Amino acid sequence: MKEIIKIEKLNKIYDTGAIQVHALKDLDLTIEQGEYVAIMGQSGSGKSTLMNILGCLDRPTSGSYLLDGINVTEQSENELSLVRNKKIGFVFQSFHLIPRTSARKNVELPMIYGKISASKRFQRAEELLKKVGLEKRLDHMPNELSGGQKQRVAIARALANNPPIILADEPTGNLDTASSVEIMELFSELNREGATVIVVTHEEDIAEFTKRVLRFQDGHMISDVRREE
Ligand SMILES: Nc1ncnc2c1ncn2[C@@H]1O[C@H](COP(=O)(O)OP(=O)(O)O)[C@@H](O)[C@H]1O
Ligand SMILES: [Mg+2]
Repeated sequence: MKEIIKIEKLNKIYDTGAIQVHALKDLDLTIEQGEYVAIMGQSGSGKSTLMNILGCLDRPTSGSYLLDGINVTEQSENELSLVRNKKIGFVFQSFHLIPRTSARKNVELPMIYGKISASKRFQRAEELLKKVGLEKRLDHMPNELSGGQKQRVAIARALANNPPIILADEPTGNLDTASSVEIMELFSELNREGATVIVVTHEEDIAEFTKRVLRFQDGHMISDVRREE
């Protein structure tokens, strides 16, 4: 299998002037295409820092990160945003939908940056919302949707440019149990269809959906366990 993520000796130090926070310490990590991974650990252990680096939203202080063979630490800001748009779909705990903007328009947005024609965007947004079970909510505004529905719009949006990697940082953190299960089943389906899916959670029940669990403590990866099917 292809190594889609390869990290070596990665460090992230936040320097806020008065204090330095060493959020990731000498991390080595390889993830192959098609894996389904949970990242666990207490608050402050470095999970979001890792996700932001994986998703090219932030850069490491040192070390290397190869994303689908591209050395992203050597990329300019512009190159990096292109890589991000093509390779990564990001899902956040608090959904990050654009308010007063329909579900369909929210899903279309990444395609506008991806330079896809208006009619194609319109069609594809509908297909994606259908895929996540929201074909009857195309024109609903975010405030007219439940938490679980908002997260499904966010997942449809993450899929807009058909990225090989889906990164989700505590995607069920604001959801009830039933909606959480639905969201994880959706990620499982995307994984079966070939996506590499990485989910941060601190709930064991949620991690159960995945096939490999990485645990972090104080910036170190302290365990890496693959589950037999
Ligand atoms: N932008 C930032 N500036 C300074 N320190 C930060 C910043 N982001 C995170 N940290 C610190 O880095 C450590 C890891 O944070 P984070 O990756 O958000 O942890 P987690 O997602 O596991 O809760 C924490 O000590 C946190 O306070
Ligand atoms: Mg976090």
